Amino acid sequence: MVDLKGQYLKIKDEVDQGIMEVIETTSFIKGPAVQKFQSSLEEYLNVKHVVPCGNGTDALQVAMMALKLEPGDEVITTSFTFIATAEVIALLGLTPVLVDVNPDTYNIDPDAIRKAITSKTKAIVPVHLFGQSAPMEAIMDIAKEYNLFVIEDNAQAIGADYIFDDGSRKKTGTIAHIGCTSFFPSKNLGAYGDGGAIFTNDDKLAEQLRAIVNHGMKVRYYHDYVGVNSRLDSMQAAVLNVKLKHLDEYCDARRMAADYYDQAFANHPNIATPVRYEKSTHVFHQYTLVTKDVNRDALKAFLGEKGIPMMIYYPVPLHMQKAYISPRYSEGDFPVTEKLSETVISLPMHTELTNEQLEYITSNVLEFLNK
Ligand SMILES: Cc1ncc(COP(=O)(O)O)c(C=O)c1O
Repeated sequence: MVDLKGQYLKIKDEVDQGIMEVIETTSFIKGPAVQKFQSSLEEYLNVKHVVPCGNGTDALQVAMMALKLEPGDEVITTSFTFIATAEVIALLGLTPVLVDVNPDTYNIDPDAIRKAITSKTKAIVPVHLFGQSAPMEAIMDIAKEYNLFVIEDNAQAIGADYIFDDGSRKKTGTIAHIGCTSFFPSKNLGAYGDGGAIFTNDDKLAEQLRAIVNHGMKVRYYHDYVGVNSRLDSMQAAVLNVKLKHLDEYCDARRMAADYYDQAFANHPNIATPVRYEKSTHVFHQYTLVTKDVNRDALKAFLGEKGIPMMIYYPVPLHMQKAYISPRYSEGDFPVTEKLSETVISLPMHTELTNEQLEYITSNVLEFLNK
C-alpha cells in the first residue's frame, strides 16, 4: 500500500545525517531536533502552537484531558473512522456518541451531529478522513450555538486546506479549538516510528497541553496536572524535519496518482471514484473507491495473485465493534457508514507510484470488473 523505502532513498543523505546528529549530540529527549520541528510545523500550518507528542492516539487523549472533560460527558464523533478516535473517549470515561457520515465524502454529517446533541454533550471530534476536510464551518457553527469544544482528528489530512465560504483557507487541524495528528510511518507526513502532535491557537490551552504530555509539569518535579509521558523523540523529529520540507510535493504526488485512478475508473458502472469536497483540497491519504455489485474478497484475491495490495478501511463500523457495542445503537442505525463498510476498497496510494505501476494496478482492477 505504501513504498517507504523508495521515498527514503531519495532523502537518505539528509535523513541519515539528521539521525547521526541526534546520536552524536545524545539529545534523545526534547532535543534541538524536536524544537526545530515544532517551530517549522507551526510555520507550515500557520498555527500558534504545535505540541509534539508520542503518537496520534495520545494527541487525542491529551486534547481531551486539557479540555477537562469529565466522566459521563458525551463526545460526538463518526462511526466511520479508525478506532483511536473513539478509543480515547472511552478510555477517559467519557461517552462516545457515534453518528453517521456523508455518503460522498465519508466525513461526519453536521445534521447527524445536531440530532445527537444532549445536555451532556461537551465536544465534537470531526475526522478529516482519507485526506480531505470535514465540513468545518458547519461544525464550528453548531459548536458555537451549543457551546461545545471541537477537536479535529487530522491524522489523515495533514497538508490539506479547508476553503471557507469567503475563499480564505486554513490548514486542516488549525480551525477548531484543538487539532491532532499522527506521524505513523504510512501517514502523509510519516516518521520512522510513532509520533504525533497537537495544534492550537489558544495560549492557555497550549500551556496545559505542553504540561500534560510531560507528566503534568511546567516546572520540573512540580505537577500541576495529572499528565502522561508522551513525547516525540528526537530521532523521529530529525526524520520529520527532512520530510516536512517535502510535504507539499508528497501531497502533489498523491494527487497525481489519484487523478490517474480517477481517469482510469471514470464512469465505470461498478465503482464510484472518491468525490472531491469543494471546500477542501484533498491530500489522498487513501484512495478509496465505493464498489457496486463487486465481490470484494474475490477482487482482493485476484489482485493479490498479481502482487497488488488492496485494503478495506474500515470493514466494521465503530458502533458494530465488539468493544463498543452499546444499547445506544443497533445495526441499521447508520446506514451510510454500514453501506460504506460493506462496499469500500482502498488501492495503493503513496508518493512513489509510477505511471507503469498505476497502469498495472488499474488494468488489473478493470480486468476483474469487466470479466
Ligand atoms: C483517523 C485516525 N485517528 C487517530 C489515529 C492514531 O494515530 P497513531 O497511530 O499515531 O496513534 C490514526 C492513525 O492511524 C488515524 O488514522
